[in-house]
Amino acid sequence: MDFLKWRLFPMLALLASFLVIFYIQDSSKLSQSDCSLLPYSHYWITGKRIVTPEGVISGAVEVKEGNIVSVIKEADWQGNSKRGKIIDYGEAVVMPGFIDVHAHLDDPGRAEWEGFPSGTKAAAAGGITTLVDMPLNSDPSTVSVDTLMLKLKAAEKNIYIDVGFWGGLVPENAFNPTALQALLDAGVLGLKVSILRSGSLSISKSFMCPSGINDFPMTNISHIKEGLSVLAKYGRPLLVHAEMEQESESFPVDDEQDPKSYSTYLRTRPPSWEEAAIREIMKVSMDTRIGGPAEGAHVHIVHLADAGSSLELLKEAKRRGDSITVETCTHYLAFSAEDIPDGDTRFKCSPPIRDSDNKETLWKALLEGDIDLLSSDHSPTLPELKLLKEGNFLRAWGGISSLQFVLPVTWSFGRKYGVTLEQLASWWSERPAKLAGQDLKGAIVVGNHADLVIWDPDVEFEVNNDLPIYLKHPCISAYLGTKLSGKVLATFVRGNLVYEEGKHASAACGAPILAR
Ligand SMILES: *[C@@H]1O[C@H](CO)[C@@H](O)[C@H](O)[C@H]1NC(C)=O
Ligand SMILES: [Zn+2]
Repeated sequence: MDFLKWRLFPMLALLASFLVIFYIQDSSKLSQSDCSLLPYSHYWITGKRIVTPEGVISGAVEVKEGNIVSVIKEADWQGNSKRGKIIDYGEAVVMPGFIDVHAHLDDPGRAEWEGFPSGTKAAAAGGITTLVDMPLNSDPSTVSVDTLMLKLKAAEKNIYIDVGFWGGLVPENAFNPTALQALLDAGVLGLKVSILRSGSLSISKSFMCPSGINDFPMTNISHIKEGLSVLAKYGRPLLVHAEMEQESESFPVDDEQDPKSYSTYLRTRPPSWEEAAIREIMKVSMDTRIGGPAEGAHVHIVHLADAGSSLELLKEAKRRGDSITVETCTHYLAFSAEDIPDGDTRFKCSPPIRDSDNKETLWKALLEGDIDLLSSDHSPTLPELKLLKEGNFLRAWGGISSLQFVLPVTWSFGRKYGVTLEQLASWWSERPAKLAGQDLKGAIVVGNHADLVIWDPDVEFEVNNDLPIYLKHPCISAYLGTKLSGKVLATFVRGNLVYEEGKHASAACGAPILAR
């Protein structure tokens, strides 16, 4: 550009620059800049603790148009002269974003319980870059193509992170392969079945929340067998809530027992329920073995709470070659039955949080690889349905609110066991990505989506109202009052900086994830 000319026509230059600025601002509205707190789409992230599949490195990650395009160790970075924008995170940890394969965002239909906007804002603030939404607790449940379309509509422009969807396997669709295939063709990442019920016990109905979870009916082993044979063709997983009421055990609650005491609730859902369900599932999970009739399908047990016989059975199923995995949730690793105060229904969930010995054994199983991955099972509701004042464990809604805090919770409670950053990445990114069939997510490697969380392991804080909590109902979170370490500094989804220290990108640009 001719410098002299600019000097000769300063007014013109000023006018031109205004026009340029207007043009940039205007076009940025149409581009990604509302989706990201960063104004550019090509940049480098540098840091001393970048967690990659080859270990924790000091170096740089190059992000371009939403993808990771290079990962460079410090030694090679030094000699690399071509640079663009650099964001240096120093000693902070740079990890693949968390993938939560088990969350209930209750949208559509019960968005007042959580909903996509607040749920995914909280997730982003907690370092979660992808979550897979459960098919139940929304209204309607995701059990058909039509209901999946309602999910997609509710999620449109309302999700700050990427969101996939599990479909529901229920009696009404289990024996209808055409309907199941249509649901899978429409893109659910797999199917979920709810509680297996052997008997005709009706007593538990009175403990159900009045707002009705009854719209997600129970399945039996025949439904599950049918579902698995369809899933086999798609290579997608079946997720199982494994708790089966035992007819032989009479319901132990009587008038003598205090419904405000946690131990009363604990006795209503004994470990034998989990064990019985897993024993039942093992009759069909064997079909997933190589050469079996459902080869290609996979069974995943959600929210395992019993570290006893249930876990032993799962080890046996793995040994014999079933394609089976199991998750536990942060609340089973953080809390113990003995410590739950009377009347504090924030801690009610199913299966229930068991005693501290059980918790120790869960940790051991996780560290030894017998438990494959972690999830939040974030399952909020309205505060009035938690019956916080009344404190009745038998009548309160069962479900723990946790989504925003699973990263610091896993880290804080895991420190005692020497949990490493690589283990965190395996439990919360790599294996969840595999379960959900997301081969471009879950690790910092070239070609993957630039889904990243940056966090400081040493910052300590208490979960209280001084924090920005983005969940719709912070007062029901089981973690209120808990001291944690590990602060999320920044969260990137497909290269967009969607969250940074108390601030979200102005637009919700997360993508719905549909299986193909
Ligand atoms: C499961 O329920 C269906 C009805 O939905 C019934 O036809 C089938 O026999 C049941 N299977 C078992 C094993 O109880
Ligand atoms: Zn759940």
